[in-house]
Amino acid sequence: MSVKTREEDLKKISKEIANCRRCSLWKERKNPVPGEGNVNPVVVFVGEAPGYWEDVKGRPFVGAAGRLLDEMLTGIGLRRDDVYITNILKCRPPRNRDPRPEEVKACTPFLDRQLEILSPEIIVTLGRHSAMYILSRAGFSVTGITAVRGKVYHARFWGKNVRLIPTFHPAAALYNVKLKDYLVRDFKLLKAEIEQRRLI
Ligand code: URA
Repeated sequence: MSVKTREEDLKKISKEIANCRRCSLWKERKNPVPGEGNVNPVVVFVGEAPGYWEDVKGRPFVGAAGRLLDEMLTGIGLRRDDVYITNILKCRPPRNRDPRPEEVKACTPFLDRQLEILSPEIIVTLGRHSAMYILSRAGFSVTGITAVRGKVYHARFWGKNVRLIPTFHPAAALYNVKLKDYLVRDFKLLKAEIEQRRLI
């Protein structure tokens, strides 16, 4: 698929998200946050849901967790422009509460379509909700993020072999040195995967 077609298809999804009423989160949000980045990416990052600043700006990972994500990317020689960043939910849950099952169910068809268009080699899931959704779609059971992180999973999506790398949510690692250390290790795993397969 050409870059132009991808851009157009993603834009169409963003418009649908802006008009979406499939759950009640649209009522309190300021802006939808469909996602952004390279439309021909090797890596797609999938977070949980927009927070305060993401809701204000309509862009993913632009608050404190986003700064840590940027730091992790820079640490392995990647820039935001190299990757695509999106979330399980496209609208902010009130007071940043956890996504509800019915919201995940209503919203993830958008994510599925985005991922199929982007068709990345690697999907990095950030946090428990993202790991649960993406890994279970690939047939893996997720008991908790600690149990699944630190490994590369092989999945078959869209008739293609895709690697899944689940890790902690950067927000959880902001004030926890141990979790930040795991995050650094998991990003090294991502770097190794990219280099081993000469993806970038
Ligand atoms: N946390 C997320 O999961 N996603 C964002 O976009 C920002 C914070």
